[in-house]
Order: sequence, then C-alpha cells, then structure tokens
Amino acid sequence: MELLAGLYAEHIDTLQQRTRVILERQGLDGLVIHSGQAKRLFLDDMYYPFKVNPHFKAWLPVIDNPHCWLVVNGNDKPRLVFYRPVDFWHKVPDVPSDFWADYFDIQLLVQPDQVEKYLPYDKASFAYIGEYLEVAQALGFTHMNPEAVLNYFHYHRAYKTPYEQACLREANRLAVLGHTAAKDAFYAKASEYEIQQAYLSATHHAENDTPYGNIVALNENCAILHYTHFERHAPKSHLSFLIDAGANFNGYAADITRTYDFERRGEFHELVVALNEHQIALGKGLAPGKLYGELHMDCHQRMAELLSRFGIVSLPAEEIVERGISSTFFPHGLGHHLGLQVHDMGGFMADESGIHQAPPEGHPFLRCTRRIEAGQVFTIEPGLYFIDSLLDDLKKTDNTKYINWNKVDQFLPYGGIRIEDNIIVHADRLENMTRDLKLD
Ligand code: GLY
Ligand code: MN
Ligand code: MN
Repeated sequence: MELLAGLYAEHIDTLQQRTRVILERQGLDGLVIHSGQAKRLFLDDMYYPFKVNPHFKAWLPVIDNPHCWLVVNGNDKPRLVFYRPVDFWHKVPDVPSDFWADYFDIQLLVQPDQVEKYLPYDKASFAYIGEYLEVAQALGFTHMNPEAVLNYFHYHRAYKTPYEQACLREANRLAVLGHTAAKDAFYAKASEYEIQQAYLSATHHAENDTPYGNIVALNENCAILHYTHFERHAPKSHLSFLIDAGANFNGYAADITRTYDFERRGEFHELVVALNEHQIALGKGLAPGKLYGELHMDCHQRMAELLSRFGIVSLPAEEIVERGISSTFFPHGLGHHLGLQVHDMGGFMADESGIHQAPPEGHPFLRCTRRIEAGQVFTIEPGLYFIDSLLDDLKKTDNTKYINWNKVDQFLPYGGIRIEDNIIVHADRLENMTRDLKLD
C-alpha cells in the first residue's frame, strides 16, 4: 500500500495533464465523470452487480459506489462528489480516508438527486462522461461523451503509469494464488464447481469481484471458448483442465490462462508443453515498434508448426497458414491490452484521434492491432482447440484431405489448450508479471 501511495501523485499528475490537453483542444472548461447508477432488475427490487464507469475508476480506486461524480479540469484539485446515503438497509461507504483521499476536494452526497448543487453551474462548457445520458440531459449537459475526448483518453490509457503497473502486478499476484489452488483441486479430482470455489477462496474474491466470469473447464469443455458453466459433478475421469481466471485490484484486472494434463504424460501433455514454449517465445516478441497484428501472424505460424509436428495436419506449417487451416484450431486473436478493463480500450488505434489501425489481411476480428510501445500492457494467449462445429466446417472443404482425422479424434476428449500471460512492455525490457510469480 505504501508503495502505491508513493506512486499515486504521479498518476494523478498524468491524468490531470491528459485532461488539460484534451480540454484545451476541444474548447471545454472541464469534465464531469459519473461513476454510474445501480441497475434494477425488470419488475423487481433487486439490483444487478454494480460495474463502475472505467473513466471514473481511472482516477481513484472506488469501484463499488454508484452516484459518485468527479469534476476535473486538469488544473484545479479534482472535486469528488462521494455518495454516502443515510441507509440502514445497506452498508454505507466510509468517509474516504485512504491514500487517495488527499488528492480530491471531497463533498458528501446524501441523495443522488441533489447532485446538481455540487456540479458546475454553467454546463454548456463541461462535458458529461458516463452512461446515463438522460440524467446528463436533465442536468443540462449538452456535451455528452464527446468522441474526441473519449478517443484521446482511450488512446493514452494504453500507457500505464507506474501506479497502474503496480496495481496490475498485484492483480496478477492475487490471480496466481487462485490458479495455484485451482491446479491443486484439479489434481485432487475436483469438479469444475469445486475448483471455482477453491479459486475464489484463495483470491479472497466473491463471485462478482472477478473482472470477468472465470472459465473453469474440464475435458471436452476446454473446447468451449467462453465456457462459464460450473459442472457440479466431477467427470468419470479427469483428462485436461483449462482455467482462464483473473483477479481485481483497485479496479485493475489480471487475465491469466493455464491448461493442464492430468496424467502429465502422453501426446496431449507434449502438446501442452510445446504450446507453452511457443507462448513464452511470443511473449518475448513484444518488441516496441512492432505491430501487434504481426505477432498475431507469428502466432498462426507457430500454431501451424504444432499442427504439423504432432501430425494433426499433413502439411508444412506455412501451407497450413496459407490454406487458412490454422484458423480452425486457433480461432481467436493472440491477445489484447489489459488494464482498467480486461479488454482495455485503444487496441485498434493508430493515433490519439482514433484513426483505425488496420488488422492483418484475413484477420478482421482481432482485439488488438496497435503498434507496441513502452508502457503498454498486453495479454499473450495462443491456443489450439478441437471444436466440433469448426471441425465440421473444415470437413466440408477441400482441406479435409490434409487432416489426420484419427489424430483429431484422439485429441477431442481433451478439448483444447490456451496459455495466457500478462506482460508489461518497458523501454529496455519486458516484464512478464505472470511468469515472474512462478506460475508455470
Ligand atoms: N478472459 C478473457 C480473455 O482472455 O480475453
Ligand atoms: Mn483470459
Ligand atoms: Mn485475455
């Protein structure tokens, strides 16, 4: 905590400076950033879990309090309107006293609809940044989420301040505690549900604290890319285990995946080991100046090399990529920016105005195409999967003759493999936060 507190002043300075630049460029006097509102279920008196506006949590680690507002202009001390109702039904947030509190001029708000008196009187020169446009309109704002302002922040948010890097390291540390507990539970033949409980317990996260829905998959379920079911019964036999699970620290996310073979021997195990080597090499390929899309193409070559080496496809790697066969087995992107959001913004931008950075030909759906630079944080998450529907499509093409279908059948019960690390690009080195924590 002390370390974080020491880095926080510079973080606020950076945000102030970014704010100053874009306000001047847009001819605005300031921004009013809304944390959000609690959303009620249809015809019910229950609320969905609250998810804070990322532009709000960029400034301070308050992620669980709706009806808060920030008024910033890049020069004056930021004003925080902090919601603190009188309420005996719910836990009321404490009056802020954490390390960040000194950096804000704090006003306490008791009733959400009384916020107006804490906001600038002349709304015409302020922009509202938030989700609730009808609220903004009712308050008299005419500028709402101006594209140029959002693009500028999204572009610059890719460069993490030292404070943000420290938060991401801590999120990784928490997630690795969970991954270690989950791995032990898998080798003790636990069910998916039990593994998930072991993960949450080790990270001290409640279910809604995780930055995304954990993927805890056994056997053929490893082939379901967004598998968020938790089977209560353990399978008859444990073959493989894919866990894609993160952690949240001060609003910053970890996003880590590992795949394990139960027997720790045999061809699937060898495939995991070989993919792990490629994953490490791809992580080392995050060179400043390179386009992330180039690394994605490198990943296709590497996955194709595995398909060839393990006799799944009877072609050399290059031809496997040229014929588009690698996309059947590796149907997603290599990774994305990571930060306040799991898929952090700005991944497609060529510049701060939001000009689009084109993806490599034939790969239109990547989450990240941006030029790699110091200060950015990426995931690197290659994978190989045996997905029924994609294999059925492949069977209908000419390429079917190059596929060793017996081999595919042999791997189908294992589902697939993904390995994912979180890496900071520094000017003079790479920092693989996940591997540094000895998660093999
Ligand atoms: N866990 C989401 C992702 O890896 O992108
Ligand atoms: Mn992931
Ligand atoms: Mn990811």
